Formats: sequence, structure tokens, C-alpha cells
Amino acid sequence: MKKILVAHDGSKLSDKALKKGVEIAVRFDSNLTVLTVIPDLYLTELSDLDRKRIMEALTEETMIAMEKIRSTLAGKSVEAKTITRQGMPAEKILETAKKMKIDLLIVGSHGRHGAKKFLLGSISSKVVEYATCPVLVVK
Ligand SMILES: Nc1ncnc2c1ncn2[C@@H]1O[C@H](COP(=O)(O)OP(=O)(O)OP(=O)(O)O)[C@@H](O)[C@H]1O
Ligand SMILES: [Mg+2]
Repeated sequence: MKKILVAHDGSKLSDKALKKGVEIAVRFDSNLTVLTVIPDLYLTELSDLDRKRIMEALTEETMIAMEKIRSTLAGKSVEAKTITRQGMPAEKILETAKKMKIDLLIVGSHGRHGAKKFLLGSISSKVVEYATCPVLVVK
């Protein structure tokens, strides 16, 4: 198991997924990548300026979250990096896993939205359905 990818959206469950990822990476001496996707906005009623402001706020928030993750990872005996993409989360997660030839993809069962009505959130269910590599769903 050379390459592990953790999809992180800033939620508690994605933190739990990251913790698992670190555990497994240490055990198997794998490379760990943490991916956050900044979602595209489809709110057509927003003005360009408002959309720009929201994107800037989201990007800023993501950068801070990734910095925090990097400092957590720095203390661990694992080779790790963080990457950020923009677009549709499930699509970008799947695309990244494929491009990087990931051996294990780790997601939380739910994310920031946190509605536990369904077994899986919409992103994790798409990832489980379409991934071409093994997926670990952390709950
Ligand atoms: N933007 C994102 N970037 C990276 N990983 C994500 C992103 N969104 C979700 N994930 C991954 O998918 C997992 C499940 O989140 P998901 O979005 O499916 O559930 P949710 O937020 O509870 O519900 P919803 O379907 O309403 O968004 C997260 O724990 C995380 O691992
Ligand atoms: Mg979500």
C-alpha cells in the first residue's frame, strides 16, 4: 500500500478519517496525501462580486484548515502532503485518486453538512460507487 489519499472537508469525521489514514500510513510506510476540494458555486442569483467574495472566504478558510493539518502531520513519522483542488468534490476526489494511482482512498461517512438521515453523505456515496480503487469509509 504505497499511496493513501484522505479526502478532507474540515468536518469531525474527516478528521477521524485522517487519523485512520495516518495510522495506516505509519504501519505500511505509505505516502499520505490529504485533499480538500473547494466546491464550485452554482448560485446563479449571486452577483460576480458576491461570488468572488464567497470564493475568497472559502479559499482562505481552506488554507487555514490545510495549514492546521500540515502542522498536525509534521509531528508524525509519515511522509505526507496536502493538496487543494477546485470544482465538484466527488469528481475531483475520484480524478485525483486515479491520476495519482492511489492504493487506498479514505473518506468520512458524512461531512460538514452532517445530515445523518442517509447511511452516507452524497460525496462519500459517489466516491464509493465510482472509485476504481479500494475505499475506506470512516464512521
Ligand atoms: N469538499 C470536499 N473536499 C474533500 N473531501 C470531501 C469534501 N466534501 C466531502 N468530502 C469527503 O466526503 C466525506 C463525506 O462528506 P459528504 O459531503 O458526503 O457528507 P455531508 O456533508 O454530511 O452531506 P452532503 O451530501 O449534504 O454534503 C467527508 O468526511 C470527506 O471525507
Ligand atoms: Mg458535504
